Amino acid sequence: MKNILVTGGAGFIGSNFIRYLFNDTDFKGRIVNYDKLTYAGNLANLSDIAEKYQGKRYFFIKGDICDANKVSNTFKKFNIDTIVHFAAESHVDRSILGPEYFIKTNIEGTFTLLKSALNFWKNDKGFRFHHVSTDEVYGSLGARGYFYENTPYDPRSPYSSSKASSDHLVRAYHHTYGLPMTISNCSNNYGPYQFPEKLIPLMILNALEGKNLPVYGDGKNVRDWLYVKDHCSAIWTILEKGKNGETYNIGGECEKKNIEIVKKVCSILEEEKPSSLNPVLDGKKYSDLITFVKDRPGHDRRYAINCDKIKKELGWKQSFDFDLALRQTIRWYIENTDWVKSVKDGSYRKWLSKNYSLR
Ligand code: NAD
Ligand code: DAU
Repeated sequence: MKNILVTGGAGFIGSNFIRYLFNDTDFKGRIVNYDKLTYAGNLANLSDIAEKYQGKRYFFIKGDICDANKVSNTFKKFNIDTIVHFAAESHVDRSILGPEYFIKTNIEGTFTLLKSALNFWKNDKGFRFHHVSTDEVYGSLGARGYFYENTPYDPRSPYSSSKASSDHLVRAYHHTYGLPMTISNCSNNYGPYQFPEKLIPLMILNALEGKNLPVYGDGKNVRDWLYVKDHCSAIWTILEKGKNGETYNIGGECEKKNIEIVKKVCSILEEEKPSSLNPVLDGKKYSDLITFVKDRPGHDRRYAINCDKIKKELGWKQSFDFDLALRQTIRWYIENTDWVKSVKDGSYRKWLSKNYSLR
């Protein structure tokens, strides 16, 4: 691997992955971050990396994965040999309100990337298209059982259907045209730089502001939580050791009911920033803000990943303990007030035009 194209590198997991490549691996090549900068893309997520490596080993291209010319030119310009494809519309609630964007980016965008990758690939052995996907393609579990790599697909939201479709296209390009590829299907991530529409950062920031903590339905839906850096190390392991054409499940082996998560966030916050010293709480405890609200339509009940394959075949394992990593994440949101403020007031959208000349 010499030149890696990361799509969606300005988002939550993509930016953590780019930082991981620079700080935690022996990768010495170039990284091109190709991102449209939708509401979820924030270049401030990578300001430390840009300061050190921009123009040397780190390059940012503002572009849409649906733009075939721009994608092809970027492949050529940087002689890309590895694609790590994160770019997507990622939020289930938004897919319920406006599925069109999900079909466009997740399906058509992936298709455009695949077509360009196939045109650019010259039967070179070192080439790889790694597609980052989700456990939601497998559907919803009852009280028992796990998702395996060969679990039949049963997506149930516009988001998961669009991701399932993109997974099928990636496999089709491998089986039909021989494009070298791997896929990973991962469970719920948490950690720094996550946009505060997702459960954990939303609960942290709402609690600190004394706002309600909306728990959908009975709060007993189960997710399998993985610290984002463990996801990054799993993808890196697949890039280094994964077999062409294979799919790997990645999970935290850390199932929690949503209500458990919300209560834990409240109790850690009481230790890190006591409600009694937070004037906006007005005498309330953080847990007093928990409010059960109308359920998400079609809300999948339980996700749980079996990730024995990546563990046994590639030697990957999780390194982060949930309670400690959640505390670190909460501290990150308490300490990074500038990031939080700019995301909350929308000023992060202006950061780009101040810091980059866009041609
Ligand atoms: P995110 O929403 O934080 O970031 C998505 C990024 O993609 C943003 O930077 C956005 O600007 C960019 N983008 C969106 N549309 C684009 C387009 N048309 N062209 C170029 N860039 C575009 O998402 P995330 O949570 O970091 O998720 C990254 C990937 O991982 C997604 O493919 C998602 O399906 C998958 N995934 C996420 C999780 C999770 O828990 N967050 C779990 C499993 C898999
Ligand atoms: O499983 C992997 C998926 O995890 C990824 O593919 C998606 O990109 C990512 O967004 C995430 O999807 P979820 O729908 O599981 O994440 P979210 O943070 O939106 O919700 C987590 C759970 O918490 C879910 O059961 C819904 C519930 N929830 C969520 C929000 C935002 C609430 O109860 N209240 C809320 O306000």
